[in-house]
Amino acid sequence: MQQPNPWQAKWQQRYAERSFTYGTAPNRFLLSQQFRLRPGMRALCPGEGEGRNAAWLAGQGLAVTAVDFSAIALSRAREHAARQGVAITTIEADLSRWTWPEASFDLVVLVFLQLGADERVPVHAGAVRALAPGGVVLLEAFARGERMQCGPPNDAARYDPAMLRADFAALEIVELLQGTTMLEEGEGHRGPANVVRMVARRP
Ligand SMILES: C[S@@+](CC[C@H](N)C(=O)[O-])C[C@H]1O[C@@H](n2cnc3c(N)ncnc32)[C@H](O)[C@@H]1O
Repeated sequence: MQQPNPWQAKWQQRYAERSFTYGTAPNRFLLSQQFRLRPGMRALCPGEGEGRNAAWLAGQGLAVTAVDFSAIALSRAREHAARQGVAITTIEADLSRWTWPEASFDLVVLVFLQLGADERVPVHAGAVRALAPGGVVLLEAFARGERMQCGPPNDAARYDPAMLRADFAALEIVELLQGTTMLEEGEGHRGPANVVRMVARRP
């Protein structure tokens, strides 16, 4: 039998202790990409947590599926969406072991899903598979190098542009930038941060 993913219990505990650590407003990088969205698009949000991005995307008229291995977070995500007057589909799954849908989404939104290489590689490969032709990945993650105030404590679960170029080699890179931003996302992401941002399209 497969061992449980140790990170799942850690995230469940974090969510049991605190709610909306990253706030209820959508991520600003995602907001900046609003011009790419059209009502009716199918969006997949892996590692969506408490639903701030999923609820906003649903409010833009997208059909949103949020996946996370924390049942507590997903329950809050459904409640948060309902408070906004929208509905989202939630799936409780460990993304590193999930059977990803094939060519089923116009948009895959990866926001601060920080994984070690053993999980990151299959998860990013799954995200590529899930994209329909012409579909787009929007990714923001903490970057390797100087940590500043937010993000995982060491480089193991942080990314750099070269890693993303390799993980998403099957896609056309539209934007891939690393630099400093000022995060104001709840208590969890507050202050200067070194981030990498990517927009990539399936041909
Ligand atoms: C830093 S939080 C970001 C949440 C959300 N994307 C946001 O920006 O508000 C990372 C999320 O990824 C989820 N996660 C981490 N590893 C996962 C895995 N292997 N499978 C499913 N969810 C995972 C955690 O439960 C958590 O909700």
